Amino acid sequence: MSKPFYIIGFMGTGKSSLAPFLKQNGKVDDLDEIIESRIKMDIATYFKQSGEEAFRDHESKALKETDGDFILTGGGVVERSVNMEWMQRHGTVVHLSLPFEDCWERIKDSERPLVRQGKAAVKSLYLRRLSLYEQADVRVDASRPPREVAQYIIQLKEEEHGLD
Ligand code: S3P
Repeated sequence: MSKPFYIIGFMGTGKSSLAPFLKQNGKVDDLDEIIESRIKMDIATYFKQSGEEAFRDHESKALKETDGDFILTGGGVVERSVNMEWMQRHGTVVHLSLPFEDCWERIKDSERPLVRQGKAAVKSLYLRRLSLYEQADVRVDASRPPREVAQYIIQLKEEEHGLD
């Protein structure tokens, strides 16, 4: 069986919008969706109620339990180095890369809990995380339409599978 592709990237890089296209080529696991179905509430409510660390515990646990071909992660999965180590050990890590201003335009009106802290705080989070995302095996330009980004990732996976 081919190894999974873990899709990482900041909020707004379009990870979830790849799902409909990736689904045509394998099983897609969306970590945020898995967590929300477990905690039985949306992530914003959970952050308020239990805090970020409790969310990160769920995130690390859910990551280890995935069995999909494509794993869509939340932007903060890189916050714990054990998560990155896990992903690198078990599959290929793909970084969706997009400039901060583009991410911000896409997320500024959303309900994401960290976005509520305002643009300056989100920008410093973005800058701090950049070096973590850059530990990925592959970087993909996420400014292209989701269909094209997904096709590129599928092609990479097929090429990698051919090398198995
Ligand atoms: C987070 C990103 C969110 C979600 C949670 C925390 C982060 O996922 O997991 O709000 O820390 O960057 P998306 O990247 O899918 O928005």
